[in-house]
Amino acid sequence: MSLSEEMYLRYHGLIVPKETHSYESLEFAQGFKFEDDDVLAVTYPKSGTIWMQEILPLVLNGGDLTPIHTIPNWERVPWLEEKQLARVVAKLASPRALVSHLPYNFMPPSFCTSKAKVIYLMRNPKDIMVSSYYFHQMASFLEDPGTFDEFMDTFLEGKVLFGKWTDHVKSWRNSELGDRIMYITYEEMVQDLPAALRRISDFLGCNLTEEVIQKIAEHCSFKTMKNNNMSNFSLIPKVYLDHDKSPFLRKGIAGDWKNHFSSEQLARFTSVISKELEGESFSLPWSL
Ligand code: A3P
Repeated sequence: MSLSEEMYLRYHGLIVPKETHSYESLEFAQGFKFEDDDVLAVTYPKSGTIWMQEILPLVLNGGDLTPIHTIPNWERVPWLEEKQLARVVAKLASPRALVSHLPYNFMPPSFCTSKAKVIYLMRNPKDIMVSSYYFHQMASFLEDPGTFDEFMDTFLEGKVLFGKWTDHVKSWRNSELGDRIMYITYEEMVQDLPAALRRISDFLGCNLTEEVIQKIAEHCSFKTMKNNNMSNFSLIPKVYLDHDKSPFLRKGIAGDWKNHFSSEQLARFTSVISKELEGESFSLPWSL
């Protein structure tokens, strides 16, 4: 499948949708000045980005619900590389929280020289591919995914937003940011959200009580987020995101790939991903 030039922009080889990104927004990201107390959550698309947009303001503000009830997620914890950042950046309260899908090699120089902390959220790529397949059906600014089998090839070839999953993971796992970076998985969050929140809170030096941790976990549950209009993208016109085709907050589980992959597809997927990660010094938190 060839990439639609009408829908996608290539920025130094990086594939992004034109609807949400522009050359100017990507240049703005390159010139962005990180502050030492900024917090950035980085994800490959469909790894749980909007979950972090819910969690970070709550953790950073002692569980105050005002931001998640009054500000849409894309303004409350904006994407570093998307169009709206230039418009909302002045409104961000300190410590600022941002998200990004950029691979490490696309991070602006000020990020590297700052002490800003980063949380890299990983998800099993098989579930990412499934989530992405449905996202391509509901988002009018993304190419029609074709059949599941066809989309698997598109995904494995990296002809999708932000390129190959393996390149993204390699870039961040090898970033050598020391104690500035924390790695966490979607699966860990699904399995025990309060424990994940404790880790995040400790990493950010937030010192939250158990009562606050439990309150945050409740407000960041899949069910609560699905009903929060500031977080479920229901404010975006249907012409862009059609929740009748597939809701953005779709299933929120680990292992949905088992309902989609045939044994042949599993072998193909595993073989490509394993080969691309051969020789890497890090190991994956799940078996492929
Ligand atoms: P599914 O399509 O598998 O349901 P992103 O925000 O990076 O686009 O990721 C979207 C995925 O994260 C979707 O996965 C969505 O349901 C899931 N997600 C978002 N919030 C969640 C939550 N509170 N609990 C579990 N999964 C969540």
